[in-house]
This record gives sequence, C-alpha cells and structure tokens, in this order.
Amino acid sequence: MTSQTVLVTGGAGYIGSATAHLLVRAGYRVVVFDNLYQGHRAAVPQQAAFVLGDLADRAAVSQVFDRYPDIGCVMHFASYTLVGESMERPFKYLRDNLVNALNLLEAMIAHGVKRFILSSTANLFDLPSDRAAEPIREDAPIAPGSPYGESKFFIERALHWMHRIYGLKYVSLRYFNASGALPECGEDHAPETHLIPLVLQVALGQRPYVTIFGDDYPTRDGTCVRDYIHVADLAEAHILAMAALDQLGARCYNLGNGRGFTVKEVVETARKVTGAPIPAVIGPRRPGDPAVLVASSESIRRELGWQPKHLDLESIIRSAWEWHRAHPNGYGDTHLGGEAPPALRDLPPASQREDKG
Ligand code: UFG
Repeated sequence: MTSQTVLVTGGAGYIGSATAHLLVRAGYRVVVFDNLYQGHRAAVPQQAAFVLGDLADRAAVSQVFDRYPDIGCVMHFASYTLVGESMERPFKYLRDNLVNALNLLEAMIAHGVKRFILSSTANLFDLPSDRAAEPIREDAPIAPGSPYGESKFFIERALHWMHRIYGLKYVSLRYFNASGALPECGEDHAPETHLIPLVLQVALGQRPYVTIFGDDYPTRDGTCVRDYIHVADLAEAHILAMAALDQLGARCYNLGNGRGFTVKEVVETARKVTGAPIPAVIGPRRPGDPAVLVASSESIRRELGWQPKHLDLESIIRSAWEWHRAHPNGYGDTHLGGEAPPALRDLPPASQREDKG
C-alpha cells in the first residue's frame, strides 16, 4: 500500500512551499526538511511537520526516515538555484547540489523508500537559438547552460542508475521560469535575482529601476525570451506525477506554458498590472543566460493530463503582485540569506579572485 506521507526537501523555499501547501490541501501528510538558508519557516504550511536540517548532514537525513517511517515519496527541491551565481561559484553547485542529492537518495534506499520527484530545470537546454526556436521537448539535446543546470543533469543521471540498480521510481520535472504566487506563499529570495520579483520591487518603490541584462540577443526585441509558468501549476504537476509514479517508472517532463515572453514584455506587463512606471535600464548580458527557453509540455499533458491553469502572463504577474503588495518585506524574517554554512563554502566568486593563469 502506498503511504500518504511525503517528504519535501526545500519545503520552505519558493516552489517547495507552494507544493507543500497544495499537498496539504489535497490531504497528504507532509514533512518539510529545510536548512532555512534560503527558505522561510513562515512559508511552511502549519499542518506540515518541519525538520530543520541540512542535506549535507547524512546522519540528520537518515534520522528523518527513522522518525517518519510512513514516508512513501520524496519531493526534492532543496538546492542552490541561481544560474548567475553558479557561473561565479561552480563548485558550490556542481559539488553540493549533487552530493546533497546523493545523501538523500542513499538514505531513501537504505530505508526502502523508492519514489522520488526531482525539481529540475530548463537550464539543461542552452540550445543554439535556431534549435530553440521551437518549444523544447524532452528529447532535445542536453546542453546545460551553467554549472547549476549541469548539477541538475548530474542528479538526473544518478536517478537513472538508482532506477536501474534499486528500482527507484522517479520523475524529473524540468521547470521553465517559475513565477506567480499562492495567497499563502510567494517568492522571497535574499538577495533577489529573479526578474518578476525585482520588477515588482521597483513598482513598490523599493528599487529605483530594473536592469535589463542585454538587448542584443537574437530575439524579437533583443532581450531574452522565457516561458513563465505559475508556481501553482508546477505544484500540481508534482502531485500528478507522484500519483502516477508506480506506472511511470522513470520519466523526465518539461514544464511550461509553451509561450515565450521577452524581458521587455515582462516589464511592460508589470507596468500595466501595477500602474507604476517601473524604470528600466539596459545593462550587459548576464553570463549563463540562454537567449530563448520555451517549453513543449506535450508529454506531461498527454501522459498525465496536466493542464496549466494560469496561461497568460498578466494573471501570473497579478498573482505575484498581490502577494508582494500584501508582503512588501517578504516573510520579514532574518534567515541567513542564501549563504552556505562556513564548512560548505567554496572558493570566493571568480570575480573576486586574482587570475594567476
Ligand atoms: N533578467 C534581467 N534583469 C534582472 C533579472 C533577470 O534582465 O534583473 C532577465 C534574465 O537575464 C533572464 C530573464 O530576466 O533573461 C529571467 O531571469 P530570472 O533570473 O528571473 O530567471 P532565469 O531564466 O535566469 O532562471 C530561472 C530559474 C532557474 C532556471 C531557469 C530556467 O531561476 O533555476 O529559470 O529557465 F534554471
């Protein structure tokens, strides 16, 4: 019999907490495991059990499975997630994201838990712009755009072997640009680097302007094209995938709306939603950014009946705006701001080091 307790690593983060909320609403028991370096205790649903811990700590990970023997599935969100930072701090991403996932998988296998959903990424697909002109399917060539994307690919490869050797059932969900908010939880990173929350901070008067990273890409207005998908639609995909895991065995799905918007279009839509002028200045390209990332989600639509409900950019930005207006200081907590504990830090950012080569 399938247990209904779900372990959500990173369940205090943006997408993890939204998924934890929808799991609770759907009647699942939820255990959140999070180190709160980037997440927020207040984002975790009250009905969920919360364990403060770090995936780097193998004993702590193993103890979660001892303490909650009914865990039947793991949804793994906890990781470092910033494309730009990963170009500066590759070891932090290539090593820690992989090692932490392996610690989790090892504890799962040792405790006989063999159902897993991975939070993966569109950053696997840094395709030449002619190939990315079509929405990206799961069989597109893997070409990670950054050490962040590569770290998720490493984990997908580890899952392949866990499936073959131990019979682990898994689904890897490759999100395109998660955006929007639930009434209960929204996007609050420190430092914030994502486009939509930054633009909304300008609208709230918390920043003077937004910088557009490059207007010389081969796109319709020269700025990068992304596929913005509502966090509630992503969360629903996790729940659907979990319910189908036993039939699926091993699958990767791309998750997006299938429509791309440029950075300038996002800024313009945010102006419309907020009524604020939102000044924008053009800056240089950000390393690691592919020109175009738009998903084909035909596979998960066809196989699992996934139907995103938030199809237009305006309603996605409006849901984010409602959350940011209600929480102008985010969760207002004093979490550690995304920095790893000293033992886990790697070399300083490349830009701060002398190049001896
Ligand atoms: N951008 C700006 N100015 C900013 C911030 C972002 O112009 O101040 C641009 C970026 O260059 C990019 C677009 O806005 O073209 C979206 O940037 P985000 O940082 O919001 O999101 P990313 O596309 O970099 O990354 C997100 C997730 C990653 C994931 C990736 C896959 O954060 O985890 O989507 O598409 F890998």
